[in-house]
Amino acid sequence: MRQDDYTAQVALVLPESGTVAWDSPSNIALVKYWGKKPVQLPANASISFTLKNCYTATKLSFSKAEKRSVKVFVNGKEQSSFLKKIEIFFKRIEDYCPYVKNYAFKIETENTFPHSSGIASSASGFSALALCVLSIERKAAELSDDDFYKKASFLSRLGSGSACRSVYGPMGVWGEHANYEGSSNDFAIAYDDIHEVFKNYQDTILLVDKGEKKVSSTLGHDLMNDHPFAVNRFEEARNHMIDLQKILKDGNILDFNRLVEKEALTLHAMMMTSDPYFMLFKPNTLNIIHKVWEKRESEGIPFTITLDAGANVHLLYPAEYKQVALDFIKNDLIAYCQNEQYICDEVGNGPLLKMEHYA
Ligand code: PMV
Repeated sequence: MRQDDYTAQVALVLPESGTVAWDSPSNIALVKYWGKKPVQLPANASISFTLKNCYTATKLSFSKAEKRSVKVFVNGKEQSSFLKKIEIFFKRIEDYCPYVKNYAFKIETENTFPHSSGIASSASGFSALALCVLSIERKAAELSDDDFYKKASFLSRLGSGSACRSVYGPMGVWGEHANYEGSSNDFAIAYDDIHEVFKNYQDTILLVDKGEKKVSSTLGHDLMNDHPFAVNRFEEARNHMIDLQKILKDGNILDFNRLVEKEALTLHAMMMTSDPYFMLFKPNTLNIIHKVWEKRESEGIPFTITLDAGANVHLLYPAEYKQVALDFIKNDLIAYCQNEQYICDEVGNGPLLKMEHYA
């Protein structure tokens, strides 16, 4: 990577103050990223559906200052617990956005999904923040739309790896892969060479466990470094990227189901065979998976499941099965959801600029 490609020119005349706001969505990986090299570079390429309803709305107010200061408000309340992670992010992006050293920032943020629902807010949260920061630069620098989103994805990655895919809808690909033209370890690219059926694919997220994760993603990624199955896993992911490309184009849902479930279970198998091993499944994660498989077998409905690094189950299905899915959830699955909670989402088109004001 050439640092120059991503570095703002020092001579930029940046706004004195202003406010920018972006809504940026979460995403759910189909081929998973698990294992990384410093700094935030993936061990294998990954691909995700960008979601529509689960997003972070972030408003960034800024004014020039001698040195950086940051205040964070979540749902209107000042929250200092996020400051550490945000400061790491700002430190990491300083090389590419030197101007972040000289602003007083106020970050006001909220998620559309319930707080601590177990849905990772890092992808939506960091991509929203990266888009806000880069909007300041775009006010002063000539940045084409392509370059804007590319650099926003690059910056998002430095906050949380999977965040770089959230910058694009309907799908994002992150990580160099010979079959995906323009793919890179540094940033994600948009991916839309997909059959109609996938353009509004449904994702109903069954909230099994809303507690804090016992093992962070960061630690989980690190455990892949000495993992006995790592080499095979990375090779498998590489091959899955090839297979999925054809499946997405052809709209082959049966093959889609097999590949996506294999990916999800392999991700968790890697966790269960790490040293130290750990398990994020809860009993109700398995109860839901078995119910979904029974339903699929007995009625031939093309439901499939995937998971991220947590106990919640994402139920994926074509839009035409929405009512069937909702009835199935109400009758058979809701008993396994914490406080009967689930979130209806679907494939979306990526982030939205909500406000831009400069002085
Ligand atoms: O971006 P991170 O560090 O939170 O890791 C995300 C890893 C998975 O969600 C498990 C897989 C993925 O590709 O999103």
